[in-house]
Amino acid sequence: MKKVLLTGGAGYIGSHICLELVQHGYTPVVVDNFRASNRRIIERTQQLAGAPFPVHELDCRDTVGLRAVLEHEVGITGAIHLAAHKSVGVSVKQPREYYDNNLGSLLSLLAALETSSVEHLVFSSSCTVYGQPKRVPVTEESPIERAESPYGRTKQMCEAILDDAVAAAPLQVVTLRYFNPVGAHPSGLIGELPLGKPETLVPYITQTAAGLRTELTVFGSDYPTRDGTCVRDYLHIVDLAAAHVAALGWLERRGPGSFNEVFNLGTGAGVSVLEAIAAFEQASGTKLRYRLGPRRAGDAIEVYADASKARRELGWQARLGILDAMRDAWRWQQNIARGL
Ligand code: WQD
Repeated sequence: MKKVLLTGGAGYIGSHICLELVQHGYTPVVVDNFRASNRRIIERTQQLAGAPFPVHELDCRDTVGLRAVLEHEVGITGAIHLAAHKSVGVSVKQPREYYDNNLGSLLSLLAALETSSVEHLVFSSSCTVYGQPKRVPVTEESPIERAESPYGRTKQMCEAILDDAVAAAPLQVVTLRYFNPVGAHPSGLIGELPLGKPETLVPYITQTAAGLRTELTVFGSDYPTRDGTCVRDYLHIVDLAAAHVAALGWLERRGPGSFNEVFNLGTGAGVSVLEAIAAFEQASGTKLRYRLGPRRAGDAIEVYADASKARRELGWQARLGILDAMRDAWRWQQNIARGL
């Protein structure tokens, strides 16, 4: 049984990856400090997976603790590093915490891996490293502009740390640049649980539809796009999770060598805010209360992926679209309301 260390495995993205790993014959070994995640989600994930898997409450900056997990959990063949703060807005207010946590966690994991036999690492990065791309769709070779936030800069710096790490010692890394993860598992039992007021579009839409928010404000309707609102590449969380299994398989098939290989993870289709709202209304059968408001500082106008490299090399492509994501996000929101 192949075990995979999964840092941040109790979070929104991590829980969906746990499921995919189990469904593909891996055993996830979750490390999470539960500061931004919920034990209930891990319990649900284990139920859905039909098998308990090890969970260690640990901050990834605790290198000694990570080393102990790697020694105790015999048979770990790879690691997926998700543990990081990810709020653009909070990162602007708390840059030191973001640098300490996001860079510190990666450095600590690399130190722990150095004294283990694990040589396969999948790193969770973000399209935010492209900043405001000059051309779309964005390829992996698109220039890395200065990111718009400390959060984005931590992801840029982590990628640079990995480039230097693989040049200095044997390590095989896949860096996955996520576009916009959205939706929830079709079971309706796990999904995104934003802490406080949602910063991102889809949970704000579903909470508005559930009556938890008065109305959605569309941040800007005068952009140079087909309907004046910003365009993004919304990737269903189940597709995103599947890409991590594809990345592990790709690493297992690779021969010797030390590298950090980057892949965009997106659908390749741009969707505007108004189109996302229309998709929600169609998927949920409910009208959404929203108003057109001022632009949000730092927003890129149009960002969507050229995901052909992942399709060509990983054999992965998105199978689900914005309608599926809105359907599944709405089911999850309704289940939250039912106290599920
Ligand atoms: C999407 C669009 C908003 C809320 C961020 C991070 C990125 C990743 C995903 C971590 C934009 C508009 C939003 C609202 C709105 N996170 N919007 N009203 O900013 O593309 O990406 O989250 O990895 O790194 O940067 O996602 O969902 O915040 O915004 O009009 O109430 O929806 O202006 O055009 P974003 P988002």
